[in-house]
Amino acid sequence: AETHYHQFVVQATPVKRLCRTHNIITVNGLFPGPALEVRNGDALVVKVINSARYNVTIHWHGIRQMRTPWADGPEYVTQCPIQPGASYTYRFTIENQEGTLWWHAHSRWLRATVYGALIIHPKLNVPYPFQKPVTEIPILLGEWWDRDIISVQRQAIFTGAAPNVSDAYTINGQPGDLYRCSRKETAKFYVKSGETVLLRIINAALNQQLFFTVANHMLTVVGNDAAYNRPFATRVVMIGPGQTTNVLLTANQIVGRYYMAARAYATAQNAAFDNTTTTAILEYYSSPPLSTKPLMPTLPRFNDTNSATAYTSQLRSLPSNNNKVPTQIHENLFFTVGLGLVNCTPGPRCQGPNNTRFAASMNNVSFVLPRTTSLLQAYYQNIPGVFTTDFPPVPPIAFDYTGNVSRGLWQPHRGTKLYKLKYGSNVQIVLQDTAIVSTEDHPLHLHGYHFYVVGQGFGNFNPRRDNARFNLVDPPLRNTINVPVGGWTVIRFVADNPGVWLMHCHIDSHLRWGLAMSFLVENGPGKMQSVQPPPPDLPPC
Ligand code: C2O
Repeated sequence: AETHYHQFVVQATPVKRLCRTHNIITVNGLFPGPALEVRNGDALVVKVINSARYNVTIHWHGIRQMRTPWADGPEYVTQCPIQPGASYTYRFTIENQEGTLWWHAHSRWLRATVYGALIIHPKLNVPYPFQKPVTEIPILLGEWWDRDIISVQRQAIFTGAAPNVSDAYTINGQPGDLYRCSRKETAKFYVKSGETVLLRIINAALNQQLFFTVANHMLTVVGNDAAYNRPFATRVVMIGPGQTTNVLLTANQIVGRYYMAARAYATAQNAAFDNTTTTAILEYYSSPPLSTKPLMPTLPRFNDTNSATAYTSQLRSLPSNNNKVPTQIHENLFFTVGLGLVNCTPGPRCQGPNNTRFAASMNNVSFVLPRTTSLLQAYYQNIPGVFTTDFPPVPPIAFDYTGNVSRGLWQPHRGTKLYKLKYGSNVQIVLQDTAIVSTEDHPLHLHGYHFYVVGQGFGNFNPRRDNARFNLVDPPLRNTINVPVGGWTVIRFVADNPGVWLMHCHIDSHLRWGLAMSFLVENGPGKMQSVQPPPPDLPPC
């Protein structure tokens, strides 16, 4: 195993998109940021130097951080942010993970531009569970705003209304041919006729699930979130923010140029969304000189839940991943997830529907981050009053979650509540969408763990009916899972990683509104044993 050393300088960088130049926050002046490539078993040491004028942290999305919770990165959860002029070094090891992950800022909405691929190859001389592709192409899907992302965030927070939607989607930082002033820079990938390439697709978009496809080419899905799956062929991939999907593509079409394209899968009724399409070009070597346009694929309609469900329901993991599916459950949790509204006095700060501000919650608790320390530090240093451990294991009120619900029944309370999981216990969580404002998809991400997705469905979860349908044989292993519109998802994992671990909706506007909670896992009475001690350069608040 190797140790890889990197330096990330977080800085303001002028970038031109959609005919306009403005400063965005980048790592080392690159957008998207540098791709890190390692092997399973390697260690990473990344020194982050903050040369920007905003606080920042970096999260290694999907890395389990066994015994290294201080390197996880979410601000005020495992560390205080790195202030302008300061630096912090993240040190961690890749343990039993292979595939595509990514890294991103975990501080306000900076991850809109501060992100990059984290590619984990198998150990030396260990093959992929499929024919080795000739080339590997990272495809980072993103969202672009025509103005400073912090001002977009501030406006949403100030007004209490939904945020402005993005001005473009991007592939590897470029909007592509269909947007103004973007043609010359459209991302282009070259393939040789007959060869098979691996696309490592990452959805780095801030607030939007996406459909992705390539004209005329079938995609064979082989991996998700750094775990292999049983290969299956599809025309379209649906991918939520935070998720990654590895697909094989064989260049078996007439020599020429083909668009790959992505656009929104948007499930919230009557909500505004960016309805544009980003493209990149797949070009066969020795294509005839550009005379005709590349072939454009058809994408599902923005609200095509059938296509999304048909795709995700095909995911099964490879037998090698399944030796740990918990069957006996020790912690049986039921969490509602959804948007809510809080009443407010009419005015500029009360711009949600009918004199409200948007809020979001899990089990009716709208998560509030501490401001003076991080949760993990508060735990380690026994600082009282920072958090409580009374996060409810089941909803405080039970009703028809997907039906018409009166608002008064469901006004979220603000709180910094953790749920204490017994170390080593088998955990099951039912994640149930609600219908306070609208039903809509929520891509839920759990830090410090990956989990088996044993069941998914629409309507209210009903244990008597649904338990019997769980897949305990070959459920997919993921770190981010979609809770479908008006439906539910059930996940299972073993609580074998001590630390404080955030679980949240990976749609950043929902996270800001409080759609989050945290788990506390200690492996000794009142402490975490054999966990790396707080690093000396841990940033102060
Ligand atoms: Cu990819 Cu908490 O984030």
